[in-house]
Amino acid sequence: MSEHNVGSMTGRSRLLAAATGQPVDVTPVWFMRQAGRVLPEYRALRERHPFLEVARTPELATEATLMPVDRFGVDGAVLFADIMLPLDGMGVPFRIEPGVGPVIEQPIRTAADVDRIRVVEPEEGTPYVLEALRLLRKELGERAALLGFAGAPWTLACYLVDGRPSREYPQTKALMYGQPDIWHKLMDKLTTTTIAYLRGQIAAGADAVQLFDSWLGLLGPDAYQSYVFPYTQRIFAELRDLAPTIHFSTGTVQLLELIAETRPDLVSVDWRLPLDVAWNRLPPGMGIQGNLDNSLLMAPWSAVEAGTRDILQRAGGKPGHIFNLGHGLLPQTDPDQLRRIVEVVHGSPLG
Ligand code: CP3
Repeated sequence: MSEHNVGSMTGRSRLLAAATGQPVDVTPVWFMRQAGRVLPEYRALRERHPFLEVARTPELATEATLMPVDRFGVDGAVLFADIMLPLDGMGVPFRIEPGVGPVIEQPIRTAADVDRIRVVEPEEGTPYVLEALRLLRKELGERAALLGFAGAPWTLACYLVDGRPSREYPQTKALMYGQPDIWHKLMDKLTTTTIAYLRGQIAAGADAVQLFDSWLGLLGPDAYQSYVFPYTQRIFAELRDLAPTIHFSTGTVQLLELIAETRPDLVSVDWRLPLDVAWNRLPPGMGIQGNLDNSLLMAPWSAVEAGTRDILQRAGGKPGHIFNLGHGLLPQTDPDQLRRIVEVVHGSPLG
């Protein structure tokens, strides 16, 4: 459980210190997709309630969010929700197909489709998300920082335009390259919605927010700069000084400097670059999150431990590192690996 003895800081102050480039007692740690998937107590909850019901019911979302905090003593509690939930407010019906992922009934492909998307405040579109955050902020106290999040406009557009998970998102790219006017209108609406959504989350109690741009690795630097960068930059500009921000993507070694130019407080990187190499490509003072290979957790503990210690050594005790995976936990992960990773990260003296 979470009672293992750590240093002198609380989980919340430790994570927030790292997120603002301040010194910490030991490295803060949390795991992307920690709130579901690998926990037997989550599976039991899911036997009683469908996924979207858990996500849309504040008391149930709170329960799922707290599970990994209680069990592993992580320093961050990521809200149990999904990047697709703002579609409720946009008036775009979707479902989550087990083993497949998000599916949109009527994909967004034309100017008329984009015009129909509603732009609303989260109090109207997703009030249950804000209520869950209010409950969680009270429940958590100083144990852990509360992390809000949103899908980034590019990644949301991939689902909205292609309509379902895909390897290449060809329809999305066809719209982007072929009908830039419609594309920019869509991205503008998604950006405005995302800013309101994240501002609402911060006002409701989120201590920091992460922007998930999961499919960004599909873009080269020119396309990123023309079709996505301005929107990401606008999001971080609008959130600056409200709460620390984390940019997440995977497979983006070709974009790292450009991502840094969107000016989040931290950049979450995957395992495709060693942590120190990635960090050296970010501007001075920018933090980094990562970057254990989520598949390495399938290997025996000795390999996981070596990978964990390697990352800590490459971070070198410098302020501004949050330990995490490079991408979300895989469903077949043994929860005991997570407990042991937290033990090593929290047990490692800095510097
Ligand atoms: O720690 C957490 O689990 C926090 C909550 C969370 C979920 N989704 C819950 C969820 C978070 C942070 C997400 C983000 C999310 N959702 C992303 C970005 C992160 C990433 O991995 O890149 C993306 C791309 C999605 C879209 C999405 N929703 C996918 C790909 C899936 C998985 C489909 C599957 O069956 O594997 C979902 C559904 C989803 N979101 C589940 C959970 C717990 C599974 C639903 C279930 O329990 O059946």
